[in-house]
Amino acid sequence: MDKAKRNAVIAGNWKMNMTPAETEAFMKELAPKVADVKSAKVVLCVPFVDIAAAVAATKGTNIGIGAENVHMEEKGAYTGEISGKMLTACGVQYVIVGHSERRQYFGETDGTVNARAKAALANGLTAIICVGETLTEREQGVTFETVSRQTKIALLGVEKEQMKNVIIAYEPVWAIGTGRTATAEQAEEVCAAIRGVIASVYDTETAEATTIQYGGSMNAKNAAELLAQKDIDGGLIGGASLKPDDFTVIVKAAD
Ligand code: PGA
Repeated sequence: MDKAKRNAVIAGNWKMNMTPAETEAFMKELAPKVADVKSAKVVLCVPFVDIAAAVAATKGTNIGIGAENVHMEEKGAYTGEISGKMLTACGVQYVIVGHSERRQYFGETDGTVNARAKAALANGLTAIICVGETLTEREQGVTFETVSRQTKIALLGVEKEQMKNVIIAYEPVWAIGTGRTATAEQAEEVCAAIRGVIASVYDTETAEATTIQYGGSMNAKNAAELLAQKDIDGGLIGGASLKPDDFTVIVKAAD
């Protein structure tokens, strides 16, 4: 499939930033700037407490709202957690699963990422599943093994029909929040390998239809070159998604 036929998705990841009032102001500023975007999908994944403000402020716009995590169970005694059912009830359409900060600081494993991804899909959410190697893994030459293992386990039990609601975000851990972006060649090489893994798990058609994002210090300056790569269909943007003007430049580069 031609890259142009895949969904280009630019998703912001706000991490632990912004209050509801700041969220409302941000969305009101961003909406007119991206109103004329045609092919790219614009998504902002926000902290749970900002979801209501984000959904209300983007009503009737082309901005979709996502969460940053989802629990694997629908309800129950899981203090501090939020289920997929709760998210969809609040108007959330996307959710980030398995971000490296969750893996690093909150004990997420390939197994929990898989369980959360399946819960997201079962609730009709689009799961943005993050994979990526650490600096040590890159230096030791096991980038492809790492990313392949993470992708395969994240997709365990995910049906082929559900893949239309899966986005894979390739985020080399050493590039996140460091200002040290992967080169376009490095990013393309791994995104192409991920597409190969999806083809081996499902089939070529499914792999060709899957949106694969790059994330890790993507910004207004480097976005166009990264997004021009054959297998990079979008971006997961941290720092630059907190600035409406920078985020707009990235969205337009994908459009
Ligand atoms: P960054 O974060 O753009 O600030 O590097 C990306 C991410 O963590 O998703």
